[in-house]
Amino acid sequence: MSKLKNDTFIRALLRQPTPYTPVWLMRQAGRYLPEYNATRARAGNFLALVSNPDLATEVTLQPLARFALDAAIVFSDILTIPDAMGLGLHFVEGEGPCFARPLREEWEIRNLAPPDPDQHLRYVLDTVAQVRRSLAGEVPLIGFAGSPFTLACYMVEGGPSADFQHIKTMLYRRPELLHRILDVNARAVIAYLNAQIEAGAQAVMIFDTWGGALGHVEYREFSLAYMQQVLDGLTRERDGLRVPSILFTKGGGAWLEAIADSGCDAVGVDWTMHMGKVRERVGERVALQGNLEPALLLAAPEAIRKGAASVLSDYGRGGGHVFNLGHGVSRFTPPENVAVLVEAVHDLSRAYH
Ligand code: CP3
Repeated sequence: MSKLKNDTFIRALLRQPTPYTPVWLMRQAGRYLPEYNATRARAGNFLALVSNPDLATEVTLQPLARFALDAAIVFSDILTIPDAMGLGLHFVEGEGPCFARPLREEWEIRNLAPPDPDQHLRYVLDTVAQVRRSLAGEVPLIGFAGSPFTLACYMVEGGPSADFQHIKTMLYRRPELLHRILDVNARAVIAYLNAQIEAGAQAVMIFDTWGGALGHVEYREFSLAYMQQVLDGLTRERDGLRVPSILFTKGGGAWLEAIADSGCDAVGVDWTMHMGKVRERVGERVALQGNLEPALLLAAPEAIRKGAASVLSDYGRGGGHVFNLGHGVSRFTPPENVAVLVEAVHDLSRAYH
């Protein structure tokens, strides 16, 4: 495998010095890019796109062709795991993901098992390998998975939910059933991420989109504990190089110290937090990733530059910072605004290194 030409992202995750702050964006490939919409139309629908390694590789590389991003993230979805478990994933236009067979019955939960990634998630591993070859060492490739709890939210609710009625009822009435789901999910995520690392992913990220919806006691027991189980099971080195891990809990500001102690290399920070204050709390233990308010990409170029400047100055001098949004790119983002942001981060961050 070729040596990385740009390893600023990996170095920042390991809190090593870099000449500037590396930047990539959650959901950097997606509907805000006209070329994504064209490829998706060719595929027919989102799931057909994800399950076709040639087309998934193509859309993974689209944002890198436009912007000087410092990392690629494999184009896939967190819900590939529950789909591989047989829950029957489909996407309803305008409403998001939907499972044909949500987990409600005790017997279904008892029968749940982690899928074998080599068999049921082969298409994702093929995409990882193909993207890695196409990148030819330009920038590192990130693999990812959902957190056990976030996956369970979709599996139990059957789709997106505003109040998490079903999973929270299970949490308080039948906690042992939820623990069973979370344990299966954790084992599934370990096997899946390790298979992505084996296929060529050079860093991994765990998306805990819904952990922040839990109470402060429940977060530790039902989300963080299982992410810790995942981190304990991850392959930490490949080809003699550390494979850094990033843990991102949206709305996780209250638990940053505990998250930083979970064994991850970097903590993703959402846009509600002040990066300097977060750094004071945990910056000696882990790198930080974030945290521009995604809606700022809807603003005028001057405001975007100002927003980038403010995140950089909040974080302050020195390494250990990967610039990102505090959550995914909105589909209404003008692509030229992403160019403004990436340029601003590269320009303005040199003064801090
Ligand atoms: O960052 C990247 O560029 C990689 C791609 C990526 C997607 N999903 C592609 C996608 C990643 C990292 C994800 C993760 C994901 N998927 C999460 C965690 C991150 C987060 O945003 O909090 C979650 C919760 C999901 C589940 C999911 N997938 C939802 C709720 C939806 C529908 C919402 C929406 O934006 O439409 C999806 C679909 C999805 N995943 C799209 C993309 C580009 C849009 C599908 C389309 O083209 O119609």
